[in-house]
Amino acid sequence: GKGAAMVTAVAYRLADQSRQIAETLSEFRLTTEQLLEVKKRMRIEIQNGLSKSTQDSATVKMLPTFVRSTPDGTENGDFLALDLGGTNFRVLLVKIRSGKRRTVEMHNKIYAIPLEVMQGTGEELFDHIVQCISDFLDYMGMKNTRLPLGFTFSFPCRQTSLDAGILVTWTKGFKATDCEGEDVVGLLREGIKRREEFDLDVVAVVNDTVGTMMTCAYEEPTCEIGLIAGTGSNACYMEEMRNIEMIEGDEGRMCVNMEWGAFGDNGCLDDIRTEYDRSVDDFSLNPGKQRYEKMCSGMYLGEIVRNILIDMTKKGFLFRGQISETLKTRGIFETKFLSQIESDRLALLQVRSILQHLGLDSTCDDSIIVKEVCGAVSHRAAQLCGAGMAAVVDKIRENRGLDHLDITVGVDGTLYKLHPHFSRIMHQTVNELAPQCNVNFLLSEDGSGKGAALITAVGCRMRQEMNN
Ligand code: GLC
Repeated sequence: GKGAAMVTAVAYRLADQSRQIAETLSEFRLTTEQLLEVKKRMRIEIQNGLSKSTQDSATVKMLPTFVRSTPDGTENGDFLALDLGGTNFRVLLVKIRSGKRRTVEMHNKIYAIPLEVMQGTGEELFDHIVQCISDFLDYMGMKNTRLPLGFTFSFPCRQTSLDAGILVTWTKGFKATDCEGEDVVGLLREGIKRREEFDLDVVAVVNDTVGTMMTCAYEEPTCEIGLIAGTGSNACYMEEMRNIEMIEGDEGRMCVNMEWGAFGDNGCLDDIRTEYDRSVDDFSLNPGKQRYEKMCSGMYLGEIVRNILIDMTKKGFLFRGQISETLKTRGIFETKFLSQIESDRLALLQVRSILQHLGLDSTCDDSIIVKEVCGAVSHRAAQLCGAGMAAVVDKIRENRGLDHLDITVGVDGTLYKLHPHFSRIMHQTVNELAPQCNVNFLLSEDGSGKGAALITAVGCRMRQEMNN
């Protein structure tokens, strides 16, 4: 009768709906062949960044860091470190003691950087930073000691020495004016001078990937790669000097900050980008830039999820077809929420309560779909990151003419640390795509601060040696 026909119609609609949902999410499922292709393309871009003839137009910039060795345990002294560009801005005091019992003691304070300051003028940004340092020195009672400082500045910088770095371009959430093309160490020194309150000796500018590598290498000498999977995504590694054509000299190695977040900016990933990736990119602070980062890192995964959810709601599959104000709000799904939603220990009811907390009224079915969407997006992110890392470890293996390489990657970042599945999937992908390498991952304990201090210690030592 009529009732049965209606039931059938509803059943058809539901089947069609779940087919369409599955279809959308299948775009995020990459095959091994596709991942191998990503690895291969990363390898090509690495080469373009290293070679003099292609470096100008290269998207993966392969920036020399002037860090020529990992720590050897003789590092010693008290150092200040700044950490700008991650989830938090921090000022740290790091006390490193060498000798039989090596120790590192750290004190740090977190400071907020208001959005107006992140996206205001360069002078305002650096005045704010110096103001935070001033507060920290008061807090530690150290205004009158001229400490050496390491500046972890997690953005692409063209370095000409350990203590000079010209900002190539802002990435992530920063967009302060008058900084691009300037030496950020100079900007910091000028800020300190303007305040006329204390003096510091800025010794090194350090990318967070490099700090992370150095911190892990301090404990584990086989660590020659640094990886950040956090707000942004990036890696560094020890490259042979002979391969770094932009730097004179062929002896030994130097750490290269890859800036792999920009992978794909020449269109080489267009075949795997989805309409959701394109829309996240279009509405970002830096359209067309950092395309790989926008598929892999914490700052953007939630945005991809939100774009998919909006599309599915428009099609009537979710939230009773009602696009709420919350869903229209950029940035609602932070890494910590994605991590919670995807946690296996949570019952669906708890997923619903997280969504509720974000201001999204969901049914039980809605929460199942939302969880699936999050899973598809973070799974692809972990695989893409793994494909990039597979390219790096195989490059190092070939550099050394080995059939087999044992190596350690120092890792940091909120996505890696907080997400329930990201790290495991990323590890699996590296193993699968680089079978000739045995890659060990070591979580870095506070890499940005400790690493900056270790590099500063090496910088101070080099300076003394030069003066003797
Ligand atoms: C962005 C920055 C890069 C940094 C990464 C992780 O990609 O450009 O320098 O290492 O984020 O914080």
